[in-house]
Amino acid sequence: MKHLYLIFILLQIGCGNKTELKEEIPKFALNRFPIEELSFDKVSASIFEKSCTQCHPGYSDYQTVKKDAQKILEQVLTDRMPKNSPGLDEDLKSLLNAWVSAGAPLGGGDTDNEEDNELKPTWDSLSRKVFFPKCVSCHNANGQANFLELDDRQDFFDNRDYLLNNFEDVENSYLIEVISDPDEPMPPFWSPFTQLNETEIATIKEWIEKGLP
Ligand code: HEC
Ligand code: HEC
Repeated sequence: MKHLYLIFILLQIGCGNKTELKEEIPKFALNRFPIEELSFDKVSASIFEKSCTQCHPGYSDYQTVKKDAQKILEQVLTDRMPKNSPGLDEDLKSLLNAWVSAGAPLGGGDTDNEEDNELKPTWDSLSRKVFFPKCVSCHNANGQANFLELDDRQDFFDNRDYLLNNFEDVENSYLIEVISDPDEPMPPFWSPFTQLNETEIATIKEWIEKGLP
């Protein structure tokens, strides 16, 4: 299975035109912009509200921007947008690039409420505390592991047969195997992310057993 995906990735890289622009965009601006600090509010305040919403009022809305994220990034990196301007400065371009490469997270979900900060076996909690910070920068539609998108509940659900052995035998399901593999775990050792701890893995199992609430 692993080899199959590697071949798939190599094929995609070799595929010319469609990926050309993507390859020019460095995916790991992560050191400058830690993924837990990336949020729609931050990008919105420094880019969209200042330079775009006067012509694109829709870009005040997170879902609209998320849907258009790749197109927006391309327009900005090539200085085609904002229209009639010399283009955004390099810092803002890097910020936008890091945010889109991280799967355009809503982010900023932390609250002062202690209960809210506890990891729970729900999509909301796991998505905010595990999948976005540790998986989504590769596993999103534009990331290097775009064959499995982990930024969207529906995508996860659509992959349940293969990830979860259709809920039978959670302990030996493919997803649990991959995140607890001692030799080649996800997130990979070579990435800047820490592997999942026991609590995180146990919470994911509990979430699967409950049917992915
Ligand atoms: C002064 C008005 C104006 C501003 C400011 C502006 N845009 Fe645009 N934008 C346009 C117009 C008009 C179009 C339609 C295409 C064209 O005329 O180039 C457009 C088109 C686009 C498209 C679609 C391109 C396509 O081919 O589908 C994207 C994406 C976009 N803008 C993003 C942005 C972003 C992001 C910003 C802010 C950084 C921004 N725009 C700022 C006027 C503006
Ligand atoms: C740094 C990038 C990166 C991060 C972060 C990452 N992955 Fe992956 N993932 C990959 C790549 C590349 C592959 C395909 C190659 C492989 O299997 O090693 C992959 C493959 C997978 C697969 C399929 C494995 C297979 O062989 O078919 C699953 C499931 C997976 N990842 C889950 C996760 C989960 C869950 C997280 C977060 C807890 C995560 N990944 C974090 C890059 C990443």
